[in-house]
Amino acid sequence: MSAYLQCIEDPCQNILPAGSKAYVCPKCGGLLDVKYDFQIPDPEALKRTFYQRRLSNDPLDLSGVWRYRELIPFCNDLSQVVTMQEGNTPIYTAPRCAEYTGLKRLFLKHQGLNPTGSFKDNGMTSGITQARQTNSKVVACASTGNTSASMAAYAARANMKAVIFIPDQQIAFGKLSQSLDYGALTLQIEGDFDEAMRLVKELTEETPIYLLNSINPYRLEGQKTIVVEMLAQRDWVVPDRVVVPGGNLGNSASFGKAIKELYDLGFIRKMPMVTIIQAQRANPLYRTLIDHSPRLIRVEAHTLATAIKIGNPVSWKKAVRAMEWTRGWCDVVSEQEIADAKAMIGRDGIGCEPASATTVAGIKRLIQTGEIDKDEDVVAVLTGNLLKDPDYTINYHQNNLYELASYRHELIERKDKIQSTFANAPLRIKPNKDEIIKLLEL
Ligand code: F0G
Repeated sequence: MSAYLQCIEDPCQNILPAGSKAYVCPKCGGLLDVKYDFQIPDPEALKRTFYQRRLSNDPLDLSGVWRYRELIPFCNDLSQVVTMQEGNTPIYTAPRCAEYTGLKRLFLKHQGLNPTGSFKDNGMTSGITQARQTNSKVVACASTGNTSASMAAYAARANMKAVIFIPDQQIAFGKLSQSLDYGALTLQIEGDFDEAMRLVKELTEETPIYLLNSINPYRLEGQKTIVVEMLAQRDWVVPDRVVVPGGNLGNSASFGKAIKELYDLGFIRKMPMVTIIQAQRANPLYRTLIDHSPRLIRVEAHTLATAIKIGNPVSWKKAVRAMEWTRGWCDVVSEQEIADAKAMIGRDGIGCEPASATTVAGIKRLIQTGEIDKDEDVVAVLTGNLLKDPDYTINYHQNNLYELASYRHELIERKDKIQSTFANAPLRIKPNKDEIIKLLEL
């Protein structure tokens, strides 16, 4: 089965060999897709194979990415695969969130239960494997924290040097601690994510360092399996809608590609609508869409959901394509809506990091506007683990969360308080049994 790279721009559609280290089209600068001459004559038989592989202890079959390898057939030598049994994430019912949003039922696929705690692992196993196939020794990325944590771990497994660029003082501590522990060279740059991204792109153009941001199309191949696994877990019953947070827009891009390919190959007979939710003040895709702009309208991004604090997302054209293919849409939610939705996800016993909660907040908003019907079958994708950003959660529950807080080593200013609608602050009590019994009203 042959793989190749192709520019997504029409009419360019320039073709490059699969082993090319280009991240964008050398002719026109357009984004690249990994394309295949798929040979899957019997999708139903392959669905059965996927199912049977769940009983196998082969490392490839134990991975929730490589179990579906016929749908990402870019690796010629499967002994090169670097895997940490990524994917394999559960789909939970979420009755409290369903009621909160107004849906009859809601399903949450929790990508935060990956080895490094975010969906990035699905894409990193494929990205690092391709880095190995191209004999790369050093890998790099710009990150709001999760890509870097994931890349650091997979680079350590693959014995590669990892260099990460993160915005100074703007990533959650859980994420920073991961990349330090996994041994990555961690560069905190003065500037935001967009600045870090620009820098690392320039650097990887001029050096043999391999870029592992989601502009690298091999990252997106692994992330496609989030959709494949979700459908396999639902016995291929296609939901009406899949809701996903939008930051650099790699995930939205890969979901669109996965759905289109599964549809074209005959695995599914309808396409779930891809609905992308951005934070209100980190909303370049939303602004671009409502203005019908042929170019991306960049913004200076602000949100406490630091994972998606991105104003110049690289994969925006692929995200637009995903929405066009699937008749999806994009909307925005406020910081207050994100905070309350996150607390509600917690109340279902699930929990997530702030960026993930844009999904539940977005569904609530779209039910109110009539865009989503309360009977719809909806899967929201939670992208990161609750423990990535404990500060946010603690501040919310202690009634101490502000939209704007500026730090220079310590807090210097904060304003625009977020209401802790569902606060659950810890109580200080004396170590006295009677007092506890009184408190518990037993
Ligand atoms: N949710 C989480 C938890 C993330 O870490 C990210 C992106 C997103 C959502 C947005 O996904 O970029 O594919 O649209 N984090 C990147 C990072 C940018 O560097 O970790 P996207």
